[in-house]
Amino acid sequence: MIDPRLLVGAGAPVELEIGPGRGGFMLERVALDANVRIVGLEVKRKWATIVDQKLKALGHGGRARVFAEDARDALPRFVAGTVATVFVHFPDPWWKKRHHKRLVLAAPLLDELARILTPGGEVFVQTDVEERADRYQALFDAHAAFEPLGPEPRVAENPFSARSPRERRALLDGLPILRLHYRRRPTPTAPG
Ligand SMILES: C[S@@+](CC[C@H](N)C(=O)[O-])C[C@H]1O[C@@H](n2cnc3c(N)ncnc32)[C@H](O)[C@@H]1O
Repeated sequence: MIDPRLLVGAGAPVELEIGPGRGGFMLERVALDANVRIVGLEVKRKWATIVDQKLKALGHGGRARVFAEDARDALPRFVAGTVATVFVHFPDPWWKKRHHKRLVLAAPLLDELARILTPGGEVFVQTDVEERADRYQALFDAHAAFEPLGPEPRVAENPFSARSPRERRALLDGLPILRLHYRRRPTPTAPG
């Protein structure tokens, strides 16, 4: 089993980014808050290595690491209840139906997120594709372990200060950004 807390020297549940790509969000997040401890899982080895080395070079390697992993394979090996917040920014750039098997944010991943998150732990998702936002929202709404963090699952702003590279691009291009913010229900529920 993988205990993500041990990867970033934490004594408490940590943050996780799935698919950090070029790493802008993680780099900004650790620079902004000295208490943040965060693990990234990036399927592209090249970017996982570059961002991990950059974090190290900037002196953040003790509390922020990126591993070259497919999140769908790695999360089942995570110890339960060890993650406080999960970020998934602009996932799944696959548009052809035959590529849908590659989708990371799908029902099996939600079961794993429900398992690895602490009770009350948060999931923050961003996309600029309305159909994808609808699909993700339907998945979370149908899952017994999750509920919207606030009155509505859709939120207007990113409350975490740091921005992902795709988020910055979308803002520059004036594209609408759809944001979802859920939490794991505080009381244990069977995955559904
Ligand atoms: C469209 S890019 C977005 C990158 C970054 N999150 C951003 O917002 O700028 C999607 C990223 O997710 C990664 N990715 C896709 N499927 C993945 C998986 N199953 N596990 C881990 N990373 C994945 C891709 O390699 C890519 O870096």
